[in-house]
Amino acid sequence: MSGIILALDYASASRALELVDLLAGRVNFYKVGLELFAREGPTVVHHLRKREKQVFLDLKLHDIPRTVAGAVAAASEMGARLLTVHAAGGAGMMEAAAEAAGEGTRLLGVTMLTSLGTSSLPRGAHGVRMTPEDHVLQLAAGASAAGLDGVVASPLEAEALRCRFGDGLLLVTPGIRLPRQSLHDQRRVATPRRAREAGADYLVIGRAVTGAPDPHAALDAVERDLASGERDSC
Ligand code: C5P
Repeated sequence: MSGIILALDYASASRALELVDLLAGRVNFYKVGLELFAREGPTVVHHLRKREKQVFLDLKLHDIPRTVAGAVAAASEMGARLLTVHAAGGAGMMEAAAEAAGEGTRLLGVTMLTSLGTSSLPRGAHGVRMTPEDHVLQLAAGASAAGLDGVVASPLEAEALRCRFGDGLLLVTPGIRLPRQSLHDQRRVATPRRAREAGADYLVIGRAVTGAPDPHAALDAVERDLASGERDSC
């Protein structure tokens, strides 16, 4: 399935690779996040690369420029195709990250977590809150200016991002749910079809598939949802 990245939010490599093998031939792009990486480290990335899978290493790096640059270089050497740093980390940090990334790694700036809603944004000088869309656009502008390849945002901001930055910025959207599915801890969500229509390049899907009793059937449902979607123009 092109444009789909499955999030391997598991506590062990064996459990994660069980799913990868179950879906062999169907999904080729997998996200390794903090839980799995903290448990298994680079080993799990090597196992995925050995199976010829593309790896999105979602480490959400946020530290001083030198430390982040070192981690980015290591992730590139590991074979990460996509890697995240926090867009809130500042221009110096993101520029150092962009400089340290190897040829094969595309860097994404994490904007506003999809688990956060409007109420988590601070009030401005006149007591008015920024909207998530404005906040995301502001962070994305910084990420783009610093030389990152793309951003992670919710599907609800994808259209505004695409219109503002054109096709030059890679758009990756978590917060994907099929109609009537539980939101779990997520707030800013949309269906696969809506996210694709809004201009997302990659949809990150976790529990909608990994939490389903039959992951193949869940992927069928994602495919059906996507089937009638067309991308909107600005
Ligand atoms: O299970 P679910 O589909 O909600 O998982 C979403 C995945 O996307 C998780 O692995 C989470 O870490 C990641 N993510 C997110 N929001 C972001 C960035 C990454 O939910 N802004």
